[in-house]
Amino acid sequence: MVKICCIGAGYVGGPTMAVIALKCPSIEVVVVDISVPRISAWNSDQLPIYEPGLDEVVKECRGRNLFFSTDVEKHVCEADIVFVSVNTPTKTRGLGAGKAADLTYWESAARMIADVSKSDKIVVEKSTVPVKTAEAIEKILTHNSKGINFQILSNPEFLAEGTAIEDLFKPDRVLIGGRETPEGQKAVKALKDVYAHWVPEQNILTTNLWSAELSKLAANAFLAQRISSVNAMSALCEATGADVSQVAYAVGKDTRIGPKFLNASVGFGGSCFQKDILNLVYICECNGLPEVAEYWKQVIKINDYQKSRFVNRVVSSMFNTVSGKKVAILGFAFKKDTGDTRETPAIDVCTGLLGDKARLSIYDPQVNEDQIQRDLSMKKFDWDHPLHLQPMSPATVKQVSCVWDAYEATKDAHAICIMTEWDEFKTLDYKKIYDNMQKPAFVFDGRNVVNAEKLREIGFIVYSIGKPLDAWLKDMPAVA
Ligand code: UDX
Ligand code: UDX
Ligand code: ADP
Repeated sequence: MVKICCIGAGYVGGPTMAVIALKCPSIEVVVVDISVPRISAWNSDQLPIYEPGLDEVVKECRGRNLFFSTDVEKHVCEADIVFVSVNTPTKTRGLGAGKAADLTYWESAARMIADVSKSDKIVVEKSTVPVKTAEAIEKILTHNSKGINFQILSNPEFLAEGTAIEDLFKPDRVLIGGRETPEGQKAVKALKDVYAHWVPEQNILTTNLWSAELSKLAANAFLAQRISSVNAMSALCEATGADVSQVAYAVGKDTRIGPKFLNASVGFGGSCFQKDILNLVYICECNGLPEVAEYWKQVIKINDYQKSRFVNRVVSSMFNTVSGKKVAILGFAFKKDTGDTRETPAIDVCTGLLGDKARLSIYDPQVNEDQIQRDLSMKKFDWDHPLHLQPMSPATVKQVSCVWDAYEATKDAHAICIMTEWDEFKTLDYKKIYDNMQKPAFVFDGRNVVNAEKLREIGFIVYSIGKPLDAWLKDMPAVA
């Protein structure tokens, strides 16, 4: 029986290993983590992450060939294949701060593997890491190997949160990078055999190590670039009276461009896009390619612009002041069907509104108050560094309340900001909401989920990203 151990029971490690266990009953999969509460949660009925379909997969395999444990060293020692799926946040201090990936967790995992191993192992890079990390890891392992053979593979994960299980069941492609030596190729084949249990052969691509590492950063950069492109267009649409949905639809009909990932929004979030682009920028700079670095930086600049443009629109529409006004924030997660708030645009929008002294009432079906308070009190890039946490100032705490119901959040509010495209926000009783709000009542739809025309009929003043503006909004132009 092949034994797999995955270090890191997070958003990537957990679901990926659960699906491998489901699809490969002959393989024993153990997911290990240094965090005791995380592992306890994986072993309970309340999994630590919300992901549609995940509960069912875990229920079917847990205790059969899928195990969660904090005994990191034992399971690494016993494994044939070790996946490393630890966090790789952006560095917050020192060389490359704000851009380079912080590989502390990676390096300590690699040193631990070298320490405890007694048999040959394939070590698989699963977290997104800068190009040439595999080489660095290889050096750590071989210099500490005590005669053991380690083969390093890069096998980046392309799943998106909210659709992780679907993406893992039917991946567009599985990418495996390895050394071009006979031992390297043998390792590639071993990992390929795992995926071949359910992924068609033609969808399993093999490349050299660096191509695999770079492909992951490139794919995320291209995806983020599409969103920044359509968001840049949304600003121009608002200025000219064009409708960004119509423009995106027409553009996407070109088969060379394609229709997906062209939804204008308040901005992209999530743990990957910004981090990976910053990483790419840093690598370009380190390789003497400032023009290329500048090019990719613009993707993030437009994303930041889109978020501040949104805040400016809210404030300017409400007579240039939100001081003391209650604003309902519907949705806090970075996208629907996840409870993940890493880099969510809601953080920047809320921080912006709090800066203008608004009172916020926040509702998200999957995010609890603790998480929201933590997010709002952290400095940028600190979400993955819990130790640097600073408590929210008492004055700010008083300005924020979190509730478990959209009607409660919107009661007596002057405005609603929709930050996440949760399906339930499409079908709320907006007439009832309107009746319980202050007038004029505003809806700022950061995800274009509501039917703006219907809401206008009720009496709302509605702002939708990239759509023709209400007369009210035209009269109160936002200064970007
Ligand atoms: C992304 C990549 O899609 C995935 O392949 C990679 O493995 C990890 O990073 P994820 O961040 O989980 O996945 O979600 P994704 O669906 O890509 O959304 C990222 C952000 O972009 C979200 O905030 C989402 O709301 C936003 N988005 C997405 C848009 O604003 N418009 C779109 O058209 C699509
Ligand atoms: C373009 C648009 O494709 C077309 O829809 C529009 O109506 C007019 O402009 P055209 O300029 O005739 O058409 O040719 P196109 O095939 O788009 O190529 C434009 C340039 O891009 C060429 O120099 C081509 O060599 C280059 N190109 C194209 C690349 O360098 N790489 C590619 O992958 C594709
Ligand atoms: P991702 O989104 O990439 O999956 P997460 O932050 O969700 O990232 O998960 C990474 C996990 O890796 C965390 O649960 C963290 O506790 C774990 N981790 C980090 N370093 C180590 C280590 N040296 N050994 C075991 N687990 C680790």
